[in-house]
Amino acid sequence: MQTPPDVGRTWRLALLGAPGAGKGTQAQLLTSALGACPLSTGDVFRAARDNPKRAGAALAAAQTFMARGELVPDSVVLDLIRERSRCLHCKGGFMLDGFPRTLPQARALDALLAAEKLRLDAVIYFDVAPELLLARLTGRRVCARCQAVFHIQNRPSRIDGVCDQCGGALEQRADDQPKAIAVRLDAYRKITMPLLEHYRRQDLLVAIRAEGEPAEILARTLDALVLHTPAASG
Ligand code: AP5
Repeated sequence: MQTPPDVGRTWRLALLGAPGAGKGTQAQLLTSALGACPLSTGDVFRAARDNPKRAGAALAAAQTFMARGELVPDSVVLDLIRERSRCLHCKGGFMLDGFPRTLPQARALDALLAAEKLRLDAVIYFDVAPELLLARLTGRRVCARCQAVFHIQNRPSRIDGVCDQCGGALEQRADDQPKAIAVRLDAYRKITMPLLEHYRRQDLLVAIRAEGEPAEILARTLDALVLHTPAASG
């Protein structure tokens, strides 16, 4: 690995990749390495599902789309992001996980950042062979209490069905069933993949081969960030 990226600076990143590419896993590792604050739209929707009384009507309606594996309407996602626009000014920077994933969302983010006089440093694309994704998704287990992510083969918990971190019960996500996975992968191919070109044209895309151990992928990502943003500015 090269010189580690400057952790004293502010990193403004977005993570792109297919369902199961490891965005959530890498977001956790990158947060520790760079200090940028993670914002996962999927996690916000799942938190709304677990606390329906605190979620507004739009977030509650989003659950139906999510359970089927479909994308939540852009208007709901964009309201959610605008409500959290103060996160874009977080001192340590931010790391968007799962947003944007449609071209209208990407254009809205461009406009929002321009209005806030901010700029993305990079959009990290985690590239995984499609044939690995199904096994990653069907084997995933998530702690119902602290949301830690495990995998029955790749990252098993010490005690079957019990979270290593907090002792909570491990569950399978409703959208990790084969039918919903097929819908999610199809939406990714048709609707999200065009974003690669959108960010390539802005010279923001950093593609990472996201196979191998998570720690190796993190090292590859940090190396690529150094090369992509050599003259780090605060
Ligand atoms: P979201 O929660 O964002 O799901 P996703 O994009 O489908 O991504 P996943 O969380 O499934 O996968 P991941 O890439 O984070 O992989 P992970 O690290 O967990 O969105 C869910 C839903 O919310 C969407 O379908 C949609 O309905 C809605 N939504 C969210 N944002 C939206 C938006 N902007 N617009 C519209 N709708 C939106 O890893 C997967 C598994 O693999 C784990 O078990 C892990 O342990 C394992 N693993 C990770 N890395 C490795 C590795 N290197 N080797 C082996 N196994 C690994």
